[in-house]
Amino acid sequence: MNNNKIRKTALITGATKGIGYELTKLFARDYYDLVLVARNKDKLIEIKKDLSNKYDIDILIIAKDLSVPNAALEIFRETIGKQIIIDVLVNNAGIGDFEIFNNAELSKISQIMQINIVSLTELTKFYLKGMVYRKEGKILNVSSMAAFQPGPYMAVYYASKAYVQSFSEAIASELKGTGVTVTALCPGPTKSGFQHEVGSEGSNLSKLNLLSSSEYVAKYGYRALHEGKRVAIPGFVNTSLVNTAKFIPRKTTIQVVKKLQELNRKEIFSNN
Ligand SMILES: NC(=O)c1ccc[n+]([C@@H]2O[C@H](COP(=O)([O-])OP(=O)(O)OC[C@H]3O[C@@H](n4cnc5c(N)ncnc54)[C@H](OP(=O)(O)O)[C@@H]3O)[C@@H](O)[C@H]2O)c1
Repeated sequence: MNNNKIRKTALITGATKGIGYELTKLFARDYYDLVLVARNKDKLIEIKKDLSNKYDIDILIIAKDLSVPNAALEIFRETIGKQIIIDVLVNNAGIGDFEIFNNAELSKISQIMQINIVSLTELTKFYLKGMVYRKEGKILNVSSMAAFQPGPYMAVYYASKAYVQSFSEAIASELKGTGVTVTALCPGPTKSGFQHEVGSEGSNLSKLNLLSSSEYVAKYGYRALHEGKRVAIPGFVNTSLVNTAKFIPRKTTIQVVKKLQELNRKEIFSNN
């Protein structure tokens, strides 16, 4: 580890692509030492090389599949073993699936729950203790606008984000006055590897170019994290949508989301 600069370390999951990669660059720019987690080891090595050339920071890469039970514990043990103190935890890695629940693969459903819910909760549990002890720390949990209502055809993904939202806001309240803050970042549709992952790339809605950039979302989340905000919804339109939805009957909101999803993936439904 280098001995000058800020001497703070951020651990970021899902650091190789999209929002996580953009967040990684922001932390590097501010001279945080980094622990970067994702599955793709080659990509992690490439990012480490690139950022190490640009900034005088230490970077530990951990190639880990967060859908495998105990992945969080193994990451924690590795950082403890190297005596790395985590000042900022960014639980960004998350996956979804666009499918009628009854047709969805059980293995995919389990992966979504393991990454989006279990690993996120376990990493928070492991690193929080030290933060509270030191009376200092920040956690950024990447939730979604999906957290605020059920999402037909992405039922488990939406439900997983409702969990992230509820969990993050609850512990943020518990932690008041401890010096540790928890921020739930709730992006709307964002251009990243996610569209390819859930199979909505090239869909009718994504062609409308309504997606935010990962860079914009990351910058918004980064600022909110440092301000200690509990909830951060990037974009005026997204914030207005979330606020308006509070006054609309839940049944109606579900119908609207369902219709949007059907429009989004017309080809799936026309084949059924
Ligand atoms: N894009 C959107 O429209 C949108 C909207 C709202 C919320 N979000 C949320 O934003 C977060 C980031 O998503 P993104 O849009 O930036 O997606 P992305 O571009 O697909 O990036 C996902 C990141 O997670 C990593 N990852 C995926 N599966 C993993 C696994 N099993 N174990 C460890 N790492 C894994 C990926 O790296 P490897 O492939 O190398 O593992 C990658 O770095 C997610 O939590 C997502 O739910 C996205």
